[in-house]
Amino acid sequence: MAPSTLSGPADVVRTYDDASWADDGPTRGVETVVESGHVLAFPRLAFTLSDAERRFLDPRWADPKAKNVSVRWPSGELRGAAGDAGDLDALRALVVRFAEQSEALALRLFPHYRGHLRRGNTSFRPTDVTTRIRSWRQDDTRLHVDAFPSNPMRGTRLLRVFSNVNPNGEPRRWRVGEPFEAHARRYLDTIGRPLPGAAWLLAALHVTKRRRSEYDHWMLQLHDRAKGDLEFQRTSPQAHVDFAPGTTWVCYSDQVLHAAMGGQHMLEQTFMIDTADLAEPARAPLAVLERLTGRSLLA
Ligand SMILES: [Fe+2]
Repeated sequence: MAPSTLSGPADVVRTYDDASWADDGPTRGVETVVESGHVLAFPRLAFTLSDAERRFLDPRWADPKAKNVSVRWPSGELRGAAGDAGDLDALRALVVRFAEQSEALALRLFPHYRGHLRRGNTSFRPTDVTTRIRSWRQDDTRLHVDAFPSNPMRGTRLLRVFSNVNPNGEPRRWRVGEPFEAHARRYLDTIGRPLPGAAWLLAALHVTKRRRSEYDHWMLQLHDRAKGDLEFQRTSPQAHVDFAPGTTWVCYSDQVLHAAMGGQHMLEQTFMIDTADLAEPARAPLAVLERLTGRSLLA
């Protein structure tokens, strides 16, 4: 059984031999591994495209105005794609199949989450990661934890399943960084409390979809401090990881310091789960930040 403490970036990735998405795969019950900040990598777990589907491995299917091609749930609606109706139906079927296989995998790996895991967006990214950079805050080639200004999570976790479907042998190149608690301690003394009334105002103006908690304030500050700190980007503990085509990997992207350095053609499924429904809630960013600040951050 894999030990479940994270000692440093070189130790972040745990590799498993599974070659099946379905219930017959060997790995199960690894909640504490992923919850302690590891990336679970499956180099033999390819997401298979039919010959006819390979035509979608081309940026021309992505609407240039959209960030990704995606399927939203629960509606199952396809967004961000350009093409005629027949092609879009086939593209949607591909993305939906990835959502279903990812969900089966997640529920096998993490049976504790059964009944609690909620399916978020499924995205297909046929464009090169480095062509989408618009500002330092959106620059995902910088190490960061995921946090979104308009979408307060209020302690809900972001569990993500990624699969590299590149047809040209090109890896998805990541950097991974220091453990979450070390990262939070790095900026602890420089992050102040949110301004009184700010969360109410952002919600009233519909800048945020719901009221931003102090937890969200912290997560956004950590995201922005890390991306804005070039010294941190250059000198903090980190490791380079290549995910070859045919590899699937799973992590909590609100906990694992990560940066996408290169690659093209990937599928990604987001799941959400409340901190209270984890196997070990005390390891979650919410619990770590509440311990460090000494107060409740969901008020
Ligand atoms: Fe990210």
